[in-house]
Amino acid sequence: MPYAGKMVRQIFESGTISALRRCLIDWYERNRRDLPWRNSQDPYAIWVSEIMLQQTRVAVVIDRYQAFMTRFPTLVSLALAPEQDVLAQWSGLGYYRRARMLHKAAQLVAAQREGNLPVTSTELRLLPGIGAYTSAAIASIAHGEVVAVVDGNVERVLSRMAGWEVVSRTGATALRRKIEALAAQLVDPARPGDFNQALMELGATVCLPRNPQCLTCPISAVCKTRGEHKTPPRARMLSCEVGHALSVRTSHNTAKACCPSGREVLLEQRPASVTVMPGMWELPLLRNAAVPEEDLRMTVRHAIMQVNYYVRIRTVFEDDVQELAIAAGERRWVPLGEAAGMALTGLTRKVLSRARLFPAAPLDSITPLAGVGMRG
Ligand code: ADE
Repeated sequence: MPYAGKMVRQIFESGTISALRRCLIDWYERNRRDLPWRNSQDPYAIWVSEIMLQQTRVAVVIDRYQAFMTRFPTLVSLALAPEQDVLAQWSGLGYYRRARMLHKAAQLVAAQREGNLPVTSTELRLLPGIGAYTSAAIASIAHGEVVAVVDGNVERVLSRMAGWEVVSRTGATALRRKIEALAAQLVDPARPGDFNQALMELGATVCLPRNPQCLTCPISAVCKTRGEHKTPPRARMLSCEVGHALSVRTSHNTAKACCPSGREVLLEQRPASVTVMPGMWELPLLRNAAVPEEDLRMTVRHAIMQVNYYVRIRTVFEDDVQELAIAAGERRWVPLGEAAGMALTGLTRKVLSRARLFPAAPLDSITPLAGVGMRG
């Protein structure tokens, strides 16, 4: 049934709401995944996890979260770090704007609040990079504030449960508001953090976008659709062809502890005016993406947001600079051992791993998600 202006309060009665809260939280206690950030009540740790989880799959986040928290165990340690170190820890997670905003907000909190994050969702929202979702997640999980979290998973669960469908673009905004109102009504005042996480967990593991597991759903008794919903079409992916240079040389000056082989790779850091990933180091861009077959070293597909990049990689020898696009920023030869710890783009790490110049990287760590606001 398309949403047709019904008031939220008519959808579920108070007895139904109590039963729903109980079933959901019982289910969560029995079925929740054991994730590292769930063992902490530290608002900083919860903040980092929620930012990482916004556009990246849980499986990828787990290792990266632990490495990040080992390198920056406290908000102040993050605030004191150079941005390049923060970006290096974020390398491969994509959407680097998230890391820059996290760092900036940590610096503000360190400078103005002695390193203590605000407690309420309203105050948290005043920090860079913290919107309605993140502020509600931190405040409800760390401090028990009764505020609902609405991410893409919660949106799907509640719209199916209430039997609402998006009928048009303008309808989508109205529906979103309706879902937020419903979530606010449902959130359990006794355990808001667990309730919010339970709803997100249900969306991530049971009420799946294309294959909902209704038979194991703890709230199917109150669900108005139970699998009989329309699935929104997948966002159409765009395609883009680009070429990058893989240039490696051996430098006898470089042969030292960090890189006994003495091998160096040519990397460039392009300015914000010409790249969507300022501050990150990448393989130099080729002047011409149409690489002749005989020069082709590998092709790599790399998805970022709604774009599939078909990337051609060719070897470029040291004196063949005319193959490279004009260097707009900084370009330099970097020992491989040093490059591994730098703020490399996910694509660069992937190519260097496939060329066996680096240990294997987690593949395709960046999942394009439809309709998510933050861009990096
Ligand atoms: N997705 C993002 N944050 C989450 C959380 N805290 N629990 C479950 N799923 C999530």
